[in-house]
Amino acid sequence: MKILILGGDGYLGWPTAMAFSKKGHEVMVVDNYLRRNLCRDLDVEPLFPVPNLLERVRLWREVTGHEIHTRIGDCCNYQFLMEVFRECRPDAIIHYAEQPSAPYSMLNHGAAELTLMNNLRGTFNIVWAMREQAPDCHLVKLGTMGEYGTPNIDIEEGWIEMEHKGRRDRFLFPRQAGSLYHTTKIQDTDLLWFYVRMWGLRVSDLMQGPVYGLSVNDEADLDQRLLPFFNYDELFGTVLNRFVVQAVAGYPLTVYGKGGQTRGYLNLRDTVACVELAVDNPADHGELRVFNQITETFTVNELADKVFRVGKERGHAVEIKSIENPRKEKEEHYYNPVYTGLKDLGLTPNYLTDEVLQGMFEIVEKHKDRIVRNRIFRGVKW
Ligand SMILES: NC(=O)c1ccc[n+]([C@@H]2O[C@H](COP(=O)([O-])OP(=O)(O)OC[C@H]3O[C@@H](n4cnc5c(N)ncnc54)[C@H](O)[C@@H]3O)[C@@H](O)[C@H]2O)c1
Repeated sequence: MKILILGGDGYLGWPTAMAFSKKGHEVMVVDNYLRRNLCRDLDVEPLFPVPNLLERVRLWREVTGHEIHTRIGDCCNYQFLMEVFRECRPDAIIHYAEQPSAPYSMLNHGAAELTLMNNLRGTFNIVWAMREQAPDCHLVKLGTMGEYGTPNIDIEEGWIEMEHKGRRDRFLFPRQAGSLYHTTKIQDTDLLWFYVRMWGLRVSDLMQGPVYGLSVNDEADLDQRLLPFFNYDELFGTVLNRFVVQAVAGYPLTVYGKGGQTRGYLNLRDTVACVELAVDNPADHGELRVFNQITETFTVNELADKVFRVGKERGHAVEIKSIENPRKEKEEHYYNPVYTGLKDLGLTPNYLTDEVLQGMFEIVEKHKDRIVRNRIFRGVKW
C-alpha cells in the first residue's frame, strides 16, 4: 500500500514509518519539525540527540535497503499538502501531525493559539485534500482517551446508545477534556464526524492513552540512532518515561496530588501494532470508527510504585514525592473504559512488566549524564 504518515518525525511517527517500510509498503513521511523547534526554543531537548528526518531515512536505507520518502512541510499549508497528496496518492493516511502536549497548550496565549490553529487547521486541510485527491483513502487519526475525561460512568468505545423519553439513538460518547490540547482533539473528532457524514469519508479515530517506551524494532536496538525522541521534561515527556528518568537522576518521582489519577496506557510497540491493525482493517465509506487504544490502566501511584521497585533493584536512590497538583483534575475517581476493539482485530498487548521497565532503565542509564535536572519540572499550572 501507499502509506502517507503525517507527523512522521515524531515519537510515534518515526517508529510507525519504519514498521510500514519494513513490511514492504511504500511510505512517505511529512513533518515540519514543529516538535523539534518547540523543544529547542523552550530548552526541553530530548534525552539524547536524534538525527534529522533526512538523516534517519538515509540510515534506514543503509540498514534495511528500504526507501522512505520524505517531505518537510506544514500540513497547515493547503497547497503543500495538495502537492503531497498528488505525488503520494495514498491508500492510507496516518495523521500524527499535531501539537501533542497538554501542559504546552496551557502555557500562555501564544502556545494555546498555536495548538488550536495547528491542530484544527491541519485536520481540516487533510479532510479537504482527501476529498479532492483521495476520496477512497482511509484516514487513521490519532485522538486521545483524554477526550472522554473521567466521567463517573463506564467509558464506551467511541459511541453510546441512549434512550431518551422512550426513543433510542446512537451518539459519540460525551466528551469533556481537561486541557486545551485535549479539547482540540474533541474538535478534530467533531470535524471528522461531520465530513464522514457529508462526504462518506473512511476514518478511524484512535483514542490513545499515554504511550511509554523506547524499544521499537531490532534495527533500532542495534543502531540507536534509529530510536525515536525521548522527552523527560514536564512539557513533552509522558508520565512513565519521566518517572524512569527521574529515578535514574535521583530526582524524587513527581506524583501530582493524591496520585489516584487513573489512565489507560500502552507500550510504544503496541501503538505501532494498533495503527497497523487499523490500516489492515479499514473503516467503510461513511464510517467513523473509534477504538480506545490502551492495553491496561494504572493510577499514577501504581506507576510510581513500579518504577520505585525496579529502580531500587537496579541500585538507584529512588524516592516518591507527592507535590501540589499543577493541573485541574480529579485525583481520585471512577475509571472503567472499554477497550476490546483492537484486541478483537488481533492485538496481542506488550504489558508493562518488570522486564519492559528494565529495558527502559537500561537505555536511560546509558544517557544519565545528559539529564538536565531543571528540565524535569517547570510548574506549568492551570
Ligand atoms: N505520545 C503519546 O503518549 C500520545 C498519546 C495520545 C495521543 N497522542 C497523539 O499522537 C500523535 C503523535 O504524538 P507524538 O507523541 O508522536 O507527538 P510528536 O510531537 O512527537 O509527533 C508529532 C509530529 O508532528 C509534527 N507536526 C506537528 N504539526 C505539524 C504540521 N502542522 N505539519 C507537519 N508536521 C507537524 C511534529 O513536528 C512532530 O514531529 C499526536 O496527534 C498526539 O496528540 C500521543
